[in-house]
Amino acid sequence: MSKEIVVSGIRSTGYLHLGNYFGAMRNYVKMQDDYNCYFFVADYHSLTTHPDPKDLRANVYRVVAENVACGLDPNKVALYAQSDIPEIPELYLMLNMLAYKGELEKVPTFKDKVRLNPDNVNAGLLTYPVLMTADILIHKAAHVPVGKDQEQHIEMARNFAQRFNHRYGDLFPEPFPFNFGDTLVKVPSLDGNGKMSKSENLNATLFLADDDDTIRKKVMKAKTDSGPTEMNSEMPEYIQNVFQLLNLVSSKETIDTFTNTYNDCTIRYGDLKKQLAEDMVAFIAPIRERAQALQADESQIQKILKEGAEKARESAAKTIAEARKAIGISYYG
Ligand code: TRP
Repeated sequence: MSKEIVVSGIRSTGYLHLGNYFGAMRNYVKMQDDYNCYFFVADYHSLTTHPDPKDLRANVYRVVAENVACGLDPNKVALYAQSDIPEIPELYLMLNMLAYKGELEKVPTFKDKVRLNPDNVNAGLLTYPVLMTADILIHKAAHVPVGKDQEQHIEMARNFAQRFNHRYGDLFPEPFPFNFGDTLVKVPSLDGNGKMSKSENLNATLFLADDDDTIRKKVMKAKTDSGPTEMNSEMPEYIQNVFQLLNLVSSKETIDTFTNTYNDCTIRYGDLKKQLAEDMVAFIAPIRERAQALQADESQIQKILKEGAEKARESAAKTIAEARKAIGISYYG
């Protein structure tokens, strides 16, 4: 039986952090054997914020290197740059005729961007969900592994797929966010406020590119207090957060030891953080080193991108031929 199709796009701005690892990349890696996976760097999407042309190449290379360093196997999945697949902007153009200004203006992510950057409300930003839809439908994907923040975009993709099918005949399956069930874990930020994030408080976020000393420094600054005074008391949220991080990277023995010392009030948060720092270093350093080595090998990255684009174009070309025919763009056959 042929495998079900999965598509996901990876933003090319900013460095990947521990939250991305546990929220996205680790799941991509788990899917690569069981699904027919298309993972791409969303470089066209990044143009909405007008990045410096000098930075694009390094940004794309970094995303590829980091994902491969995390375990994504370019022989198992198609790993490619969005801009290498001309069928995507072609489908985007077709879908734009079915997307209405009013519905696009109502999208919360669009409204956020308008609020944050009122001087750059460009049409690409408005039609961001349409380009995303083209990314997904070009491979007729059924599953889209994304975070909560992207679910509304996938709902729009379903609407656009339905609209196309309704007008031109059934062509596209409706894509749904891929649900990881209980494997979705929270990766709290080190300052006790929310989750690790690319844009907020960089000192409370561990990046996969951080060197060992930076990791240690950040972990040692994690918010704690002078310790519990009553046996078996409930942990304040910022202490739960530190334990949650320990859960992600430390051994069961370490977790048990510190849980017990918390419960009998003998815990020393300095020791806890030192252990957490070393376990984080042991976790992140090999990923960082693999990513650095790969980033230094440009010909290897180019080979990965080329082979990924070949696989993706094969599937994209089929879909676009069907879409043209459905619309009536068929003049020579
Ligand atoms: N918008 C997504 C993000 O910000 C990235 C993305 C672009 C994407 N195209 C996609 C994700 C298609 C899933 C499917 O994270």
